[in-house]
Amino acid sequence: MTARGRKVAIIGAGNVGATCAFVLAEKNVGEIVLLDIFEGVAKGKALDMSQGGRILNYDGHVTGTNNYADIEGSDVVVVTSGFPRQPGMTREDLIEKNADIISQVGEGIRDHSPDAVIVMVTNPLDLMTYHMQRITGFPHQRVIGQAGILDCARMTHFISDAVGCSNEDVQAMVLGGHGDTMVPLPRYTTVNGIPITQLLDAGAIKAICDRTAGGGGEIVKLLERGSAFYAPGSAAAIMVESILNDRRRVLPCSAFLSGEYGMDDIYIGVPIILGKNGVEEIIELDLEDSEIASLQQSGSFYKEQLSSILGY
Ligand code: NAI
Ligand code: 2OP
Repeated sequence: MTARGRKVAIIGAGNVGATCAFVLAEKNVGEIVLLDIFEGVAKGKALDMSQGGRILNYDGHVTGTNNYADIEGSDVVVVTSGFPRQPGMTREDLIEKNADIISQVGEGIRDHSPDAVIVMVTNPLDLMTYHMQRITGFPHQRVIGQAGILDCARMTHFISDAVGCSNEDVQAMVLGGHGDTMVPLPRYTTVNGIPITQLLDAGAIKAICDRTAGGGGEIVKLLERGSAFYAPGSAAAIMVESILNDRRRVLPCSAFLSGEYGMDDIYIGVPIILGKNGVEEIIELDLEDSEIASLQQSGSFYKEQLSSILGY
């Protein structure tokens, strides 16, 4: 991080990108640049947010652009550009269209913010994170995907509802890919240190795990157009804050594995320490055979798609 003040660029000023910018503005993180192919959308939302500063008492400088020169020198770049799911689609249905967008965006980031840490959001998340790292050639440590914070927040919400307690006291753990193969881990999920197995029966826990895995689809179906954005945009902002302030938070994120959890050359959701350099450390949990098998199955699913659809 430099002494000139911190700068965050957000590519894609749609629902998730704008929400992320708004949360970061309220946290007074520094300069925020919103970039979109639609210049007016980026500029209009940036102006709206700047005016909101007087009401919510933040001073951040939010600007909009369609020009990559304006993201020069960003410390963190959040990438939300791309198509969201529509009802009936899986995240994987977006692969080809969004890969083209990520190729173009990746070149812009590589040329104008070569030292940035990239937080990926575009779906299918684990595949687009892999693709972004290949396009930019950045160290794996500096290209990370947001999914686990959102998936854990969903599980937390369902548990707090079922137990009838504040969600502040629930600590959930979800690993694996951001899709149907995600792996909620009840064994690592507690309510203020109390294992959920002591508070909920097996049927209730299974129903919560299933609803968590289908959590994105549930909202797509309700919205009928597009996908969730308040929780996803906030989750990306939490990652940015941990990087900018070198908070070294322990968060589940899509990170590149080279042997951890018995997997190699793949991005997938695992707990990491997230600091100023991006992934400071990957934490390897002690998993039971069935848990590691589910995680590796999730990895194999994405590995197959990387080779058959993206040609890696
Ligand atoms: P949106 O449609 O509201 O916004 C996408 C924005 O990207 C639009 O403003 C569009 O103009 C812009 N865009 C498209 N091509 C671009 C390019 N080449 N350069 C710059 N900007 C470009 O979509 P929303 O809801 O914001 O979702 C964005 C992405 O995030 C989707 O792929 C969605 O599936 C994904 N997502 C991922 C989540 C996660 O947890 N990882 C959660 C929620 C959404
Ligand atoms: C979600 O989980 C669609 O990935 C997006 O809401």
